[in-house]
Amino acid sequence: MDISARIEAAIGNAIAEGQGGVAPPKLASALDYAVTPGGARIRPTLCLHVALACGDDKPALSDAAAISIELIHCASLVHDDMPCFDDADIRRGKPALHKAYGEPLALLTGDSLITAGFEVLARVGDADPKRALELIRILGIRTGMPYGICAGQGWESEEQIDLSAYHKAKTGALFIAATQMGAVAAGQAAAPWEELGDRIGEAFQVADDLKDALLSEEDMGKPAGQDEANARPSAVAELGVQGAIDRLNEIMSGAIDSIPACPGRDGLVQMVRKTAERLVPAKAIEAAE
Ligand code: IPE
Ligand code: IPE
Ligand code: MG
Ligand code: MG
Repeated sequence: MDISARIEAAIGNAIAEGQGGVAPPKLASALDYAVTPGGARIRPTLCLHVALACGDDKPALSDAAAISIELIHCASLVHDDMPCFDDADIRRGKPALHKAYGEPLALLTGDSLITAGFEVLARVGDADPKRALELIRILGIRTGMPYGICAGQGWESEEQIDLSAYHKAKTGALFIAATQMGAVAAGQAAAPWEELGDRIGEAFQVADDLKDALLSEEDMGKPAGQDEANARPSAVAELGVQGAIDRLNEIMSGAIDSIPACPGRDGLVQMVRKTAERLVPAKAIEAAE
């Protein structure tokens, strides 16, 4: 099975699990609405590429690691779009979940997806209890406080925002989870993989800021110009468009250099290169010129 098929199959199983039993029908339907059709699935794809580069000797653990991150990511998007955060009406080209199901179900969908992410890891514990425990630990660190998405979104309630700490927690955290959890699922140590995730995450957020400033709602399937409208600090506001593009290229060349030694390193280098090329669409670069 290719990487994308592995991800979709594992996500489908996790959602079916959440919809089973005597589940309240609207919330059960909202779970599916939040995760399918997916976006780019960049985090689970990265996680599985790292696991494969490290040998992928326990695929059930790798799949669980990959989709646990995607479940948390989808939860973060549902919450992020709610009126108390970015108040965005559109996500992935369709009405944001709170627009389709209402705010109470949006809050509960996000909560349910977060707990599902941890449950998915616990469920593969028997395959390798030590690795599974480490995966749960990493996912917890990168989801909550003080290094995870919660911290990232929390910065938006401060008067003074440190752009780098904000981006690192809001976006970088799940990329660090992706590289570290891919390695751990395949029996490798987590620490050497932090820099790669950190760098890809930082570049990804710079790219997201560029797209927010340069592309339209139609191009992105989500509202454009949100950073300026919500007065969020962004790489474009801080560095200008060209400065942000330069920064992105600098971060990604360091990302490739940081890839640890592993059996599939060459393939991973190719994958990271390709990801870097696709981060900012040509259309956005043209709009900048
Ligand atoms: C959007 O993430 C939110 C950020 C952290 C910038 P993605 O661009 O990965 O969203 P999807 O999953 O592809 O829709
Ligand atoms: C979202 O950041 C990061 C999350 C933790 C959800 P943004 O608010 O910049 O992302 P988009 O533009 O809504 O996808
Ligand atoms: Mg936001
Ligand atoms: Mg947003």
